[in-house]
Amino acid sequence: MGLNGQHETNTGTPPMAFIPFAAATTAVHRRGTASAQHRGPLCATPYYAHMPALAVRARAFVTGTAATTSPLSAAPALRQARRSWMRMGPRQSQIAVITGASSGIGLYAAKTLASAGNWHVILACRDVGRAEQAAAQSQLPRDAYTVLPCDLASFESVQAFARNLTGQAGVDHVDALVCNAAIWHPRDKKPRFTVDGIEETAQVCHLSHVLLCQELLPKLKTSRGRVVFLTTQTHSPGTLPGMIPPQANLGDMSGLARGLGPDTTGMMDNGPFEPTKAYKDAKAANVLTMRAMNARFSKDGVTSVAVFPGCVADTNLFREKRAWFRRLFFPLLQKYVTRQYVPNEEAGRRVAEVASQGTFSDSGSYYQWRGNYFAGRERTRPEVIQPTTEVVKADRLYELSLEVIDRALRKKREARPSTGRLDYRSLAGAT
Ligand SMILES: NC(=O)c1ccc[n+]([C@@H]2O[C@H](COP(=O)([O-])OP(=O)(O)OC[C@H]3O[C@@H](n4cnc5c(N)ncnc54)[C@H](OP(=O)(O)O)[C@@H]3O)[C@@H](O)[C@H]2O)c1
Repeated sequence: MGLNGQHETNTGTPPMAFIPFAAATTAVHRRGTASAQHRGPLCATPYYAHMPALAVRARAFVTGTAATTSPLSAAPALRQARRSWMRMGPRQSQIAVITGASSGIGLYAAKTLASAGNWHVILACRDVGRAEQAAAQSQLPRDAYTVLPCDLASFESVQAFARNLTGQAGVDHVDALVCNAAIWHPRDKKPRFTVDGIEETAQVCHLSHVLLCQELLPKLKTSRGRVVFLTTQTHSPGTLPGMIPPQANLGDMSGLARGLGPDTTGMMDNGPFEPTKAYKDAKAANVLTMRAMNARFSKDGVTSVAVFPGCVADTNLFREKRAWFRRLFFPLLQKYVTRQYVPNEEAGRRVAEVASQGTFSDSGSYYQWRGNYFAGRERTRPEVIQPTTEVVKADRLYELSLEVIDRALRKKREARPSTGRLDYRSLAGAT
């Protein structure tokens, strides 16, 4: 939302008109400080970022005062401007970003953190109006969240989100990034392709989260923050739900290597298209990405973990299943047979705990809740488990994913030759 209460589009166009002068100015100060050394070409400073600094100098020239560009002198102004733009309360110093927080588990995780008092939550959602409505209906404290557009079916939208987080909202650090958004198209016979020409489930659930992590890495390093990946039991062949066909299997990842475009089957292993397997593969990829990020970035203080918060059998994830399955069969199965059922509120609370509590700060861990929720909260517990038999693939998956993102973005940029070039080495976090 802009200051005037209108929704902005996600084009990444600099919304300078909406930025208070102090906010715009201090956002530039921050760019020049803590995060500058981490910034790769993917988040290269856009041309308009320099405009507020020029404005400061112009004002100093006109008024005959010194241009105060020192980060120290600007810090209180930044905090104040950010508080007013984001409508932050005085105690909110920790920033969480949650993708797909317009419904289900993400919405309730946002509610738990926003209600804690010391967190401001950025709801990264594809439909700003829907997210605002959901947040209001769920009674999130109004001064503890901000909705920003982020459509994970478009890499450019993800990049625009990252730019807006800095430029528009003035956020210079991220304490928790919750990679939550997902889609599942169980009835599809053919793959759907995004504006980037990539199979949609893989891009929304996996690839765009990899890109978002890369984009927010400098801010996560600044806070020694935490990345949380939502995953499911069903991806893991070692568990009973994971044995139900079709099983997740990334195979030789030849489909991913070829870009998951229309010249492939849309599957990571390039096997026949199967929408439920595409979802499970993407969830396996989430866990492997967590492992790869742990190997690369834990030395910089960034914690990477995954979580299965239990089965919330009636969220919008199941929106394309038939009503009898969604309303009756699946909830009853999860409540009385598998005993994995949890209500939305509880699943959201578990995710928020994993994102914020010291108990869950062991980087590289996958926390899976077990136990019958209805037997009492104290009877359920999270366990650290070995998530998948494919752990050795983590690094290769991560590299291939970055290459696919890089290729897709280059293709877009080649259509607009005036913009900058990407640097694959910085994307890969290579040293
Ligand atoms: N439900 C379960 O039993 C269960 C169990 C384990 C793990 N999980 C995981 O928990 C996470 C949340 O699932 P949920 O059950 O809460 O489902 P949900 O209610 O459908 O939430 C998914 C969210 O993702 C958003 N989304 C979809 N496509 C998007 C896109 N292109 N860009 C940005 N956001 C997009 C949706 O936005 P819209 O509101 O605009 O559609 C929605 O807010 C998923 O990662 C899922 O795999 C779920």
